Amino acid sequence: MIPAVLIAKKRDGHPLNDAEIAWFIEAFTRGEVSDPQMSAMAMAICLRGMTPLEISALTAAMLASGETLPRDSSSVPRVDKHSTGGLGDKVSLILAPLLACCEVQVPMISGRGLGLTGGTLDKLESIPGFRCDFDLDQSAQLLKAVGCHIVSASERLAPADRRLYSLRDVTGTVESVSLITASILSKKLAASLDALVMDVKVGSGAFMKSHSDALQLANALVETGTEMQLPVSALMTDMDQPLGRAVGNALEVNEVLDLLRGQGPGEVRELTLQLSAEALLAAKVCTSRDQALLRLQRVWDDGSAMERFEKMIAAQGGRISGQLPVAAKHPIVAQRAGFVSAVQCSTIGQCVVELGGGRRSAGDTIDPAVGLQVDVAIGERMESGQPLGFVFCSDDQAERWTKELQQAFVIADEVVAPRPLIIQRIE
Ligand code: URA
Repeated sequence: MIPAVLIAKKRDGHPLNDAEIAWFIEAFTRGEVSDPQMSAMAMAICLRGMTPLEISALTAAMLASGETLPRDSSSVPRVDKHSTGGLGDKVSLILAPLLACCEVQVPMISGRGLGLTGGTLDKLESIPGFRCDFDLDQSAQLLKAVGCHIVSASERLAPADRRLYSLRDVTGTVESVSLITASILSKKLAASLDALVMDVKVGSGAFMKSHSDALQLANALVETGTEMQLPVSALMTDMDQPLGRAVGNALEVNEVLDLLRGQGPGEVRELTLQLSAEALLAAKVCTSRDQALLRLQRVWDDGSAMERFEKMIAAQGGRISGQLPVAAKHPIVAQRAGFVSAVQCSTIGQCVVELGGGRRSAGDTIDPAVGLQVDVAIGERMESGQPLGFVFCSDDQAERWTKELQQAFVIADEVVAPRPLIIQRIE
């Protein structure tokens, strides 16, 4: 086959067949399709889209480019949750050990943050000693010993996706439902999952800003998963404001510790329970949502999930003794009375990145101690002078950011309805 012919076929809006997609990805993996050719194909896919059959073929081809996580002799189902990312989203840190207490294994593979939303691995790496780079055999051993892990993607899993993603990142081709679907699912299938739950975030702080884009992605993930014999269900959830209070790496781990001890923001607990229940239902470990929720609440409230979290952290080299250190705390004060009508997630994300809590480019180092505590939610009534939250940073940065962050909270005279956390379920 000739790469330029296949690129032109896609460019002109014709679907590629399974053999053509498999050949293109194989040839790219072998180095016979060059980076510029792969980038041109990614752009053609971005502009023309793919049919469901093409997305499945692309997923299968990227899966076949690498190895799969070996299964052990146990028949315990393997499940995972993947979020499209949002401010303050620390659900994975609790969900993995929580589910591991419910007779499922959770081989979670996560990423680092680039841009305004933080990455799960960055949050965990604020724990002294924590490591996330394990090879496939070590990964399998962690799973056997702990029942869950949260690690970075091994270079041996879906290597075509890793290379393609780095091209997409610099060629304006990240935002394609077809490419995102194949990218996420190829890595999840390589982890030999029995079921996957997607948290598709929608709103100003999410990758997918509109309901229709988020719905299109959720549908593509569910349909392609089904086509590939991987049960996938998706919750579309609100990201018009941060999830929970803490935004920033060590602050989020501290919120996770609070939550596991039975304190912390109710909405993080609620979303974690709902996503975990989806996973238990999809893996057929529970037969009803109520049964799943009861089981999850029990292992959360009796301390088992906390114990499992500590076991996972220790197995991955981390040492936790109490709360993690954070930077000095400075109040952000409401300048007028009224109802919180919007929270500008982009300002909050930008603040965390500029304080050093996120990355501008892939090689940047992270300051885990900085971030924000957001103490108000959309719909809440505020008095003038009341704290909206706190920014955690050095004293010399405090004046600028407490002022800028005041503007991130829009306060109106009219009553504003609180936002529903879970917008829609797709299966
Ligand atoms: N996350 C992924 O793993 N892949 C994408 O393409 C986008 C987000």
